[in-house]
Amino acid sequence: MDLRACIRDIPDYPKEGIVFFDITPLLQKPEAFQYTVDALAERFADCGASKIAAAEARGFLFGAPLAYKMGLGFVPVRKPGKLPYKTRQVSYDLEYGQDTLCMHEDAVNDGDKVLVIDDLLATGGTVGGMLNLITQGGGEVVGIGFVVELGFLDGPSKLNGLPHEYLLKL
Ligand code: PRP
Ligand code: ADE
Repeated sequence: MDLRACIRDIPDYPKEGIVFFDITPLLQKPEAFQYTVDALAERFADCGASKIAAAEARGFLFGAPLAYKMGLGFVPVRKPGKLPYKTRQVSYDLEYGQDTLCMHEDAVNDGDKVLVIDDLLATGGTVGGMLNLITQGGGEVVGIGFVVELGFLDGPSKLNGLPHEYLLKL
């Protein structure tokens, strides 16, 4: 599957100087979407996770179907003001700004083995924040997976030395 052909490059979005890698063409091609979820499931088949955590919004697009396919629980990590129960919260830097993510405080507990999934690794700010949220809850991150990794940024340095997988490097 040529995943590169399913990703559209948008120059100067959302800010001048940023090339935005748009995954919506991939989502629109059923065979590419299925391939992506199936390939992530294969990579992490033996990781021993009991749940998948993914961040709003694009992380949900891959994390939730992967949880369904792998028979795992799903933990939504969301932007402030969206989760109804008590939350843990972290702030982090992005390629084009700053953001905050929240997780229900009872979503990850001592001994939970968590697979972290996102559509894209850029600076690693988002996934770094997620690792903090998961470890604050007593969880162990057993895998980290991306559809796309941007090779010209230093994202892997934010992964605390944990192993990670990606399907396409740009
Ligand atoms: C995007 C993307 C990743 C993150 C990657 O999310 O879905 O989560 O940026 O960038 P990083 O490695 O520099 O953190 P964004 O915050 O734009 O939100 P969205 O999913 O709601 O579009
Ligand atoms: N998230 C952070 N940087 C991005 C980029 N360049 N394209 C798509 N999503 C992103």
